[in-house]
Amino acid sequence: MSQKRTMTQDELKTLVGQAALQYVVPGEIVGVGTGSTVNKFIDALATMKDRIKGAVSSSEASTKRLTALGITVFDSNEVAELSVYIDGADEIDARGYMIKGGGAALTREKIVAAQSRQFVCIADESKLVPTLGKFPLPVEVIPMATQRLIRQFATLGGRATVRLADGQPLVTDNGQHLLDVTGLQISDPLAFESQVNQWPGVVTVGVFAHQKAHVCLLGTAGGVKTLK
Ligand code: 5RP
Repeated sequence: MSQKRTMTQDELKTLVGQAALQYVVPGEIVGVGTGSTVNKFIDALATMKDRIKGAVSSSEASTKRLTALGITVFDSNEVAELSVYIDGADEIDARGYMIKGGGAALTREKIVAAQSRQFVCIADESKLVPTLGKFPLPVEVIPMATQRLIRQFATLGGRATVRLADGQPLVTDNGQHLLDVTGLQISDPLAFESQVNQWPGVVTVGVFAHQKAHVCLLGTAGGVKTLK
């Protein structure tokens, strides 16, 4: 008797990466996010590279992968508007609000999302949460503001630590540092994002509420579920 095998998280990422191709408009430039799920999308996008003009990328890592696969990467300043931006998430709720930045690319991700008419989030089902905040919230900061911002997050009940790489503060593609904040329950993502964005020294907060997902392709044991 044959038994149905549960798909691994990696297989679910491949599934949603491929499913996202249906949102790519032939002849146009597509916005491309960052992360292991997006890497599956980039690999799938390579199969239709002759039918698109190219991509605007949200990180040096994605640019490298796109270029290696023969997909032209445009500077975001060269393109006024994109019809679609495809990216992953660290957490997403049923309204399309997300935490992003686990891959340190949140600032450029928000920039490309802001120039796109539609944000399609691709994620495996482990990313769907009732309330944002269990995943440590990434915040890109100007290094001279780090200690004050750590104290400011403490007033909201958050514990912020500097993200390290090889024992040193990680330096983002934009030359800045990252805080990861635990202990938050973000019940009003729009208000939270607006509030933290105003703190001097914050470059970008990893709550994507003003640039939320319009569609989420969720990889589940039963296949790809589309949440709108
Ligand atoms: C990178 C991101 C990613 O989209 C997020 O971390 C999800 O990554 P993955 O697909 O590897 O789980 O925001 O800054």
